[in-house]
Amino acid sequence: MNLDELNRRIVDIERETADAAREITLVDSLRSLDSSVLGKTGSLGLLIANIKEYPPDQRGQVGKLVNEAKGRINALLDTRMAELQSVASAVDDAQAREFDPTLPPPPKPMGSIHPVTAVQWEIERLFERMGFTVEAGPEMESEYHNFEALNIPASHPARDMQDTFWLTNGCVLRTHTSPVQHRAMKKFGAPLRVIAPGRCFRYETIDASHENTFHQVEGLMIDRDIGLPHLIAMAKTLLTEVMRRKVKLRVRPGFFPFVEPGIEIDMNCEICGGKKCPTCKQSGWVEILPAGMVHPNVLRAGGIDPDEWSGFAFGLGLTRLAMMKFGIRDIRVLNSGDLRPIVAPVRVAGPIL
Ligand code: DAH
Repeated sequence: MNLDELNRRIVDIERETADAAREITLVDSLRSLDSSVLGKTGSLGLLIANIKEYPPDQRGQVGKLVNEAKGRINALLDTRMAELQSVASAVDDAQAREFDPTLPPPPKPMGSIHPVTAVQWEIERLFERMGFTVEAGPEMESEYHNFEALNIPASHPARDMQDTFWLTNGCVLRTHTSPVQHRAMKKFGAPLRVIAPGRCFRYETIDASHENTFHQVEGLMIDRDIGLPHLIAMAKTLLTEVMRRKVKLRVRPGFFPFVEPGIEIDMNCEICGGKKCPTCKQSGWVEILPAGMVHPNVLRAGGIDPDEWSGFAFGLGLTRLAMMKFGIRDIRVLNSGDLRPIVAPVRVAGPIL
């Protein structure tokens, strides 16, 4: 093919390619056209492969002609490709926008009540039925309310039991909900039935079962002739209702300065069913309800005469109970703001509200 013939052939190829591209409406067909023209065995591709057949003094010119043509065809195919792609995406959009009333709605990401709140509400309802009022106390407490009023004097070793956040104003972040006992006694006097759910704070190293911020429910019942059997019956009702199963309780002596006698009420471990697991520290039992008979000094500090009245108190580990109820193994998720890790597993005691 001499140079003139070559020129004419190039013009033909360009015109045919332009005509074909205009006709094509599918992206894939345009890709086939591209390879049938520019591919190794394509119409222009062959001319490119043939450059070396020309005498050396013509090769430069031939190369220039075919490469320029290749550039123009490339540009033309690119432009058409862009047109086809934008049409294709407009069609997709239109299809997506089309409303089909027979389709189910797209799934909504659903929030739900926090497990600790859910259990708290349940406990509040339960105690209201038993004639208790629900009180709240401040999270920033005076040393007096958090310790002294509860028979924990400054020098008492029991203060070491609680790793306390001390504030620069001399107050503390309450280490337990027990200060509300004193506040309620002052507010209502005897007889008295009150629970006080709320957040507590301890300077703890955080791990799967320790948090610096957790929830308790304090309970206090003062009346004439109140004794340990009332406390144990109440504990059984409380834990059976919340766990929605028959719970086994174990009662052990326990020391707390604000009660005498003090007891620990343990519940059989829900996670392993008593077979022993890390949650129950391989014991089959979980400490859930420290309690006791209110110490006369605490009654006196609250303005109640211990010769006339007696009462029981308890400090339920609400966070721990929620973990037991819903089979949550790691306390850290509860304050994380992302509860998805605990939403999926089968919940042990029914849905979260
Ligand atoms: N306040 C105690 C604590 O956080 C728990 C407690 C124990 C509360 C015995 C009580 C009680 O009311 O009687 O460790």
